[in-house]
Amino acid sequence: MYGTGSYLGLLLILCLSYKVTGQQQSDYYVGAVVEFSPNYFRGDALATLGNNTKSYVEYIEKAKQQNADIVVFPEDGLTSTRMPTVSQMDAWSTIVPAVEDEYVPCTGNLMGVSETLKNISCAAKHNSIYVLINIAEKERCNSTDETIYHNTNVAFDRTGKIIARYRKVNLYMEPRFRPTKIPEIVTFDTDFGVRFGTFICFDILFWIPGLNMTRTAGVTDFLYPTAWFSEAPFLTAVQAQFGWSYAEDVNLLAAGYSNPASGSTGSGIYLGRDGIANATFSSHPKHRLLVSRIPKKELKKPRSEIIQERSSDLTRYTLEMTGDVVDGVYLLHDNVTLFKHIPVEPLMTQTSLCHDGFCCHFDIRANIVKSSINYHAVVYNGIRRYGREVEAGIRVCAVIQCSDEAGISCVSVSRSDTVFNELKITTTVDDYEQVLAMPSTLNASMLPFEEWKYTNRLGTTGTNLTLELSQSAKDLVTFGLYIRNFDRDSWLSKTMETAPTVTGAGSLSNPSIINVSFFSMFLIFSLFAL
Ligand SMILES: *[C@@H]1O[C@H](CO)[C@@H](O)[C@H](O)[C@H]1NC(C)=O
Ligand SMILES: *[C@@H]1O[C@H](CO)[C@@H](O)[C@H](O)[C@H]1NC(C)=O
Ligand SMILES: *[C@@H]1O[C@H](CO)[C@@H](O)[C@H](O)[C@H]1NC(C)=O
Ligand SMILES: *[C@@H]1O[C@H](CO)[C@@H](O)[C@H](O)[C@H]1NC(C)=O
Ligand SMILES: *[C@@H]1O[C@H](CO)[C@@H](O)[C@H](O)[C@H]1NC(C)=O
Ligand SMILES: *[C@@H]1O[C@H](CO)[C@@H](O)[C@H](O)[C@H]1NC(C)=O
Ligand SMILES: *[C@@H]1O[C@H](CO)[C@@H](O)[C@H](O)[C@H]1NC(C)=O
Ligand SMILES: *[C@@H]1O[C@H](CO)[C@@H](O)[C@H](O)[C@H]1NC(C)=O
Repeated sequence: MYGTGSYLGLLLILCLSYKVTGQQQSDYYVGAVVEFSPNYFRGDALATLGNNTKSYVEYIEKAKQQNADIVVFPEDGLTSTRMPTVSQMDAWSTIVPAVEDEYVPCTGNLMGVSETLKNISCAAKHNSIYVLINIAEKERCNSTDETIYHNTNVAFDRTGKIIARYRKVNLYMEPRFRPTKIPEIVTFDTDFGVRFGTFICFDILFWIPGLNMTRTAGVTDFLYPTAWFSEAPFLTAVQAQFGWSYAEDVNLLAAGYSNPASGSTGSGIYLGRDGIANATFSSHPKHRLLVSRIPKKELKKPRSEIIQERSSDLTRYTLEMTGDVVDGVYLLHDNVTLFKHIPVEPLMTQTSLCHDGFCCHFDIRANIVKSSINYHAVVYNGIRRYGREVEAGIRVCAVIQCSDEAGISCVSVSRSDTVFNELKITTTVDDYEQVLAMPSTLNASMLPFEEWKYTNRLGTTGTNLTLELSQSAKDLVTFGLYIRNFDRDSWLSKTMETAPTVTGAGSLSNPSIINVSFFSMFLIFSLFAL
């Protein structure tokens, strides 16, 4: 016999299970990203972390008010990028218990877990929302009794429990942090039926860990904190984020650090081949919350992964620390001097341009308005340096904006009355499964535009890639393919033990250092701040 109590109990169970299945069966979830401009109080970890943590808690509440299931914050958003040297990192960092510990910082009292981690865990719990933050983590090594620091993402579930911890693998000139010995591939599951992968900033340009998850684990949704330094004409923030999401056809929730004066801005919610849900790239340092409905992606079959061995005499180039302020955003310059290039003519039919065995074909019909802005078709197959520590393989074919004075140093981002009525770029690659092939488009608002078609067709000689405008376009800055091939990558020094000091900045006058890095610009900014 059932009493009334049992009936209620049964109803409650039915309702709960209905709710859970309801969420799992829904064909979308609501995701939020926060572009964030942290406050920094000179040398004061408590004030800096306290102030930014309070803002995070407010944004967690705001995201919840807009029905978000999950909210993502940028890289370095709690500490700011102006962290001190390793010897002074203790107050700026926290212990992050492992997922296996099933630890809830809000209610736990483990030594070394910071108040920031606690308060954010409490905000996740009180608002019943998933939260992903990036934070400076300290790890004490038992064997050596040494403390090391990681650049770490932490995910909390709706009860404030730590359900993911990812330590950045591809550090970008961050001497205070160390990667793990074995790269971690981190995913977690949610009650709305979506499995998320996560990685950080520079990681996006590498196979490990992003493509491990898209290619072999079939992960369809990614949470991506970043503090990017935009580089014209191929790697401005929103352009690169959308390019990656599109290339892998996965949802990407990208939360960007905002400090336009040093080149950092750019966040968005990207739906792979279904386009951009929302994005922001702004010259004003401020906070922005983007919230979108995100359609769930079909689980894809894992793709094969074989890294091919290849070598030849390769072109390589280095970058000087040059940049421009464009509309309030500091933009770094790619160095295209070694790219094969031809000026764009009003009519070009199946015009081929090759560099080191890599060929691209251009079909163009354009109404060229003569001004200080002109356009070049460019092709490159070789190696470039990112930052100070990494040399990496790239293949590029594109039409890019150049300015007359600058000749082939094409890094101009301007409005232009030249109208492209037709623009089609094709190339063939024989290692499509081993590369990251990103459509790369940019207009004068420093946003990728979406009026184009992209196809990748497997043929007898390889995979044909075609990028073609679907309607005429003006104010075009970049239109092409940016391919990362990993077989040529090398790390010049995997970890750097020492932090940048004032002495380090002095060495900026050393030509060998000036040669290598656009990141140095950032060091200068940080040193001013210290
Ligand atoms: C954490 O929350 C407590 C209680 O609201 C507050 O007193 C404290 O200042 C907060 N600390 C940080 C780092 O946010
Ligand atoms: C953070 O600091 C700024 C600047 O002092 C102040 O205006 C703001 O109110 C503080 N925010 C919080 C949440 O305490
Ligand atoms: C260090 O020691 C603690 C306590 O014994 C243990 O829980 C932890 O797993 C150890 N960590 C490592 C990296 O061995
Ligand atoms: C990630 O991919 C790389 C390159 O294919 C491979 O060597 C590595 O074992 C993979 N890692 C994991 C954890 O799957
Ligand atoms: C993008 O987000 C902003 C800020 O929340 C909002 O005002 C705008 O309407 C959103 N755009 C779209 C297309 O959803
Ligand atoms: C561009 O690369 C070339 C070839 O490596 C080099 O000679 C030149 O100095 C570089 N220019 C800048 C601005 O980095
Ligand atoms: C650039 O593209 C974005 C997104 O499609 C669009 O909103 C913006 O108006 C475009 N800007 C220009 C100058 O064409
Ligand atoms: C791929 O491109 C090559 C060279 O342009 C062409 O001969 C071939 O027919 C194309 N294959 C497919 C499947 O489109």
